[in-house]
Amino acid sequence: MTAAGLLGDIAGVGADPRRGGFSRHGFDRSELELREWFRASAVARGLDVETDRNGTMWAWWGPPGDDAVVTGSHLDSVPGGGAYDGPLGVTSALVAVDLLRARGFIPGKPLAIAVFAEEEGGRFGVACLGSRLMTGALDPDAARRLTDPDGTTLADAVRAAGLDPARLGPDPVAMARIGVFVELHVEQGRGLVDLGAPVGVASSILAHGRWRFSFAGEGNHAGATLLTDRRDPMLPAAQLVLAARRAASGIEGARATVGKVVPNPGGTNVIASTVDVWLDARAEDDFRTRAVVADISDAARVAAEDEGCTVTVTEESYGDTVIFDPTLRDDLAATLRGAPALPTGAGHDAGILAAHHPTAMLFVRNPTGISHAPAEFAEADDCTAGAVALADVLARLAR
Ligand code: GLV
Ligand code: MN
Ligand code: MN
Repeated sequence: MTAAGLLGDIAGVGADPRRGGFSRHGFDRSELELREWFRASAVARGLDVETDRNGTMWAWWGPPGDDAVVTGSHLDSVPGGGAYDGPLGVTSALVAVDLLRARGFIPGKPLAIAVFAEEEGGRFGVACLGSRLMTGALDPDAARRLTDPDGTTLADAVRAAGLDPARLGPDPVAMARIGVFVELHVEQGRGLVDLGAPVGVASSILAHGRWRFSFAGEGNHAGATLLTDRRDPMLPAAQLVLAARRAASGIEGARATVGKVVPNPGGTNVIASTVDVWLDARAEDDFRTRAVVADISDAARVAAEDEGCTVTVTEESYGDTVIFDPTLRDDLAATLRGAPALPTGAGHDAGILAAHHPTAMLFVRNPTGISHAPAEFAEADDCTAGAVALADVLARLAR
C-alpha cells in the first residue's frame, strides 16, 4: 500500500461538506475514528500500540525502549483543512515500515510511530497540545481548563476518550525513550516546486504564537441606537484586522493573520456586546514577532478606547524560532543524496520536540503551495518518494 493509497482509505473520515476539506479535531468523533484506523493499521503490521497519558499514540516495532528512533505526525486538522497536513506523516511512517520490512531491515534500536493529539489546536485553541503537554511546555492545569466552542473542557474530552485528565502533563518516561524524532510533512509553500525537488529537509521554523483579543462594549439594537450612542466592539475588532496587516508589512518576513472572529451574541440586527478576535503572528525571531504583536496590541487599545470599549489580550500559545539540529539535518540531506534544506513558516510537533531531542523534518513537494485549505495537495509519486526517503532515513538512524 502507498501513502497516497492509505490517505484514500481515510478520505471519508471527518469530511466537512459545509466548509469543504476536513474538520478533524483532537478527541472528536472523527479524530477518534482515525485513531482506531491507525491502531488497526499498526497492529496489522505487527506493531504494538499504546496510548500515553497525553493521548499520544505510539506504535512500536519491537520492544519499547530508550534511544528510540521515532517518526510520526498528527491526524487532526484545522477547520476545513486539507488531506495531507498531518496524515501524510502518519501514512508515510506506516509505508516506511512496510518498505523496511520488505528490504529485510532489522532495527538496531527501538523504532516507533507517534501520533500526537490536537496539533492544530483547532478544537481547544493551543497548537501542538499533546507534544507541549509531554515536554512540559504547557501547564496541565491550564490545559485541563481549555474549552472547545461548545464549552466542553479538555479534561472532559480526554475523559470521554478513555484517558485520565489528572494524568495529563510532563511525561519523563516518554521523553526519555525518544532518541531522535523525524516528522515527514507536506510542504506548506512552494519551496520544493521552485527547487525542482520532490523531497526536502527542514532547516527552521518561524517564531510564532496565538493571541486572543477580547473586546467588550455594549450590546444594543441595530436600528434604534444612534451611531453616537454606540459602544460597538466590532469597530476596534475591525481596526485590529487592518493593524495586523500594517504591522506585519513593516517587518521583513513577518506575517500576521486574523482567521477567527467571534461576536457575541452574533445577530445581524444586534450590536455585539463582545467580540473575540484571534491573532496568529509569526516572524523570523522572538524580537520581531513580539514587536508585531505589540504594535497590533497598541492599535487595538487605541481603537477600543475611541469606541468606549475595553480590550484584554491573552497569549494562548507561543514558540520561539526553531533551528533544526544542523548535524542531523545535513546527515539526512546526505542520506537523501543531496535533498535541499528549506525553512518553513508552519508550526509542528517536531518544533516542540526540537528543544529536547535531535529532531528533523522531511517535506514533500506541494504543487500548489496551498495548505490549511482543501486545495492542499501532493502528487502520489511525490508521496511515494517521501515514504522511500523516510524509510532511508529511519534505516540510517536505527541501524
Ligand atoms: C500549524 O500547522 C501551524 O503552523 O499553525
Ligand atoms: Mn497545520
Ligand atoms: Mn501538521
